[in-house]
Amino acid sequence: MTTSAIAASGLRKTFGDKIVLDGIDLDVAAGTVFSLLGPNGAGKTTTVNLLTTLMKPDAGTIRVAGHDAATATKAVRAAIGVTGQFAAVDELLTGQENLQLMADLKGLGSGEAKRLLADLLERFELTAAAQKPVATYSGGMRRKLDLAMTLVGNPKIIFLDEPTTGLDPRSRRTMWDITRGLVAEGVTIFLTTQYLEEADRLANQIAVLDQGRLVAQGTPAELKRQIPGSHVRLRFAGGDEFDAAARVLSGATREEEDLVLRIPSDGGAKSVRGLLNQLDDNSIDVEEFSVHTPDLDDVFLALTGRTSTEAAK
Ligand SMILES: Nc1ncnc2c1ncn2[C@@H]1O[C@H](COP(=O)(O)OP(=O)(O)O)[C@@H](O)[C@H]1O
Ligand SMILES: [Mg+2]
Repeated sequence: MTTSAIAASGLRKTFGDKIVLDGIDLDVAAGTVFSLLGPNGAGKTTTVNLLTTLMKPDAGTIRVAGHDAATATKAVRAAIGVTGQFAAVDELLTGQENLQLMADLKGLGSGEAKRLLADLLERFELTAAAQKPVATYSGGMRRKLDLAMTLVGNPKIIFLDEPTTGLDPRSRRTMWDITRGLVAEGVTIFLTTQYLEEADRLANQIAVLDQGRLVAQGTPAELKRQIPGSHVRLRFAGGDEFDAAARVLSGATREEEDLVLRIPSDGGAKSVRGLLNQLDDNSIDVEEFSVHTPDLDDVFLALTGRTSTEAAK
């Protein structure tokens, strides 16, 4: 049996007459990444706020690191680190000063703090910027500093609320690497995201939040079995090419009206090249070509029959 780092049952939360969470059950195994996936307004931050004792649920029970969140709030807070959706860094202070402030709050001795800060700055590639005010940092640097501050307390369970929303691809990758590094050290990560790809890459378990309920839960592989896979779309200029291509390419789905063929594919360079070569060998011209990988919209369409933007309403 694996131990639960986080276990919640029957969580409900309403704001006024709006039901935001309508009975949520979660179980996060220690040392794993659990991803709560949902569009804007789904209730992800509310869930994080409940699990981290920042808010109290209207109903339901929460255990974090073995402690009851309702009665042992302090013990829960001591075990966790929270990096919020919006970076909680002080703009006027330097990166180093922000970290020092955290070390002071945690009561670290000066020698220990010095070593830890140097290590964190190095690990998060912030050494060069350490003496500059945070106001001059990019979004990615702020996120990294925020996470570094969370790590000062050496928490065993870390909540990351949309850590990569709005980040450029390179910073996103850095955050992913950092997350993987933490898990390798035995930390449990509760990650919220709007990106299926992110949940797919990082999470051991994914739960999909829709209108206050979890509409799906499972491993990335289990979840992806329920949604249409990636495919290549080919559009043709005329009916002859369209028909000829449909005969040549196996497994193609026809969208007659648009003269579009959809072919299941991993979207990789090799398979795409193979596909185009097949058409070339048969002298069939393609008008337009695109690779489609499933995103949050596809997940929601498959699971709920609505797109994620409709789902959030
Ligand atoms: N303090 C609050 N008071 C009233 N409504 C809130 C409050 N916090 C969140 N909400 C509402 O609850 C819903 C879920 O919000 P949130 O948990 O922030 O979603 P997410 O993080 O998935 O974008 C939204 O409709 C939001 O407007
Ligand atoms: Mg949020």
